[in-house]
Amino acid sequence: MKCKVTGELIKPFMSFGKMPSANGFLEKEKFKDEVFYEMEVGFSKKCHLLQLNEFPKPENIHNENYPFYTSSSNYMISHFNQFSEWLKKKYLSLSSNSKLIEIGSNDGTLLKNFNNTNTQAIGFEPSESVAKISLKNNVNTLKVFFNTDTINEVKNFKGKTDVICSANVIAHIPDLKNVMESVDLLLTNKGVFVFEDPYLGSMFSNVSYDQIYDEHIYLFSLSSVKKIANLFDFELIDAIKQMTHGGSMRYVIGRKDQHKISENVNTLLNYEKENKLDDLESCLNFKKDCENSKINTINSLKEMKKKGKKICGYGATAKSSTILNYCKLGIETIDFICDTTKEKIGKFSPGSHIPIVSVDHFHKNNPDIAYLFAWNHKNEIFQKEKDFIKKGGEWFSHVDLQK
Ligand code: TYD
Repeated sequence: MKCKVTGELIKPFMSFGKMPSANGFLEKEKFKDEVFYEMEVGFSKKCHLLQLNEFPKPENIHNENYPFYTSSSNYMISHFNQFSEWLKKKYLSLSSNSKLIEIGSNDGTLLKNFNNTNTQAIGFEPSESVAKISLKNNVNTLKVFFNTDTINEVKNFKGKTDVICSANVIAHIPDLKNVMESVDLLLTNKGVFVFEDPYLGSMFSNVSYDQIYDEHIYLFSLSSVKKIANLFDFELIDAIKQMTHGGSMRYVIGRKDQHKISENVNTLLNYEKENKLDDLESCLNFKKDCENSKINTINSLKEMKKKGKKICGYGATAKSSTILNYCKLGIETIDFICDTTKEKIGKFSPGSHIPIVSVDHFHKNNPDIAYLFAWNHKNEIFQKEKDFIKKGGEWFSHVDLQK
C-alpha cells in the first residue's frame, strides 16, 4: 500500500479481515449483493499517519441513504453548541461580517448555532439524507463533497474565510492533499482550519479498535497533523482534547508564522513521543492488544451463552460493524441490536446480519446482557436506561465502561 499523503510504500501492520461498509445497514434481499473489502491498516513513517489500505468509494457511502444523524445524541448537540461558542469567542469577530465553512455539516447541528449571527456560514454536505434536514434547519448547505472544484461554488469565500471547521469528517476524506489545497485557497492570512476527530492516543489506550472502519480512513495524532500541515506551509497552532467519540482531539491549523503556538502543542507532542505514537512500535503493540481483546470478547460472550443468558446489542453504530465482523459474531450470539435511528430499524447489520430493532423492543424483550456498541455515549445511555440495571441487566463492552 501507499501513504495517501506522502506516496511512500507502506507494509500494512495488521488486517481485521473482510469487512462490509460499516454504515451499510441492509434488507434481507440485499444480503447476496453485499460488498466486502480487506480492512488492512498501515502506518506512514514519513508523516506518522495510521491509515486504511482499501476502502469503498465515498460516493457509495455519502448519498441519500447515509444513516448517521449528528442530532441522534443530545450530548453531541450540546458539544456542537459549545464548539460553536468557542469558535465565536476565539476566532470570529462578532462585530464585523465573518465567514465560516463547515466540511461535512451533516444535519446542521453545528451550523444552526450561526443562524442569526454576523457570521456568514455555509456547510458542504454530500449526503442527501442529512443535508435535507440541514436545509430544513435554515442552514446554508451545498450538497457536494468539499474539494478544489466544488469550492468554486463559493467564490466569495476564496481568500476571505476566517474559519474552516469540521468534526468527525476529515478522517473520512481520502484525498487529504486536496483538503489542504482547498483550505489554502479559502482562508484569509490569519484564518484557521479547526477540526476534531477520534484521537490515535485514545484508541491505543482504550483498545477501541472499532474506531477503524471504512469511513475512518485515518486516525490522527498531533504528530501526524503537524507533519501534514507543514507539507502545505501551515502549522499546528493548538490542540485540545475532547471527550467525544471516546476520546477525540481538536486540532487548530494556521498559516506558518501567523499565530502564536499554544503550550498544549508541546505538552501533547511530548506525551506522544513518550508513548511512541510517532513510531510503528506502538502500532505493533496495538495489534497484539486487538488480538487479545478479540479473544476476551469471544470467550466472555461464549461463557454468557453457556449460562443461558440472552444477549443483545445497544446502538447500531458504524463501530459495531468492525467488532462484529472482526470477532465473527452473529445471531447465534446476539439476538438483536436496538437503535433510535428510524432509517436503521427493520434492517440488518452489515456483514453480521443481526436484526436492528427499536429501543422499545429492547425495553420489552428483557435481555440479560447488552453489548454497548455506542460505548462513547455511555453516560447519556446509562442515564436513560437505569431500569435495565434495576431489572438485573448487565452492560458489556470490549472497552472499559468504568473509565
Ligand atoms: P455513534 O457512536 O455516534 O456513531 P458511529 O456510527 O460513528 O460509530 O453512534 C450513534 C448510534 O447510536 C446511532 O445509530 C444512534 C444510536 N444511539 C441510540 O440508539 N441511543 C442513544 O441514546 C444514542 C446516544 C445513540
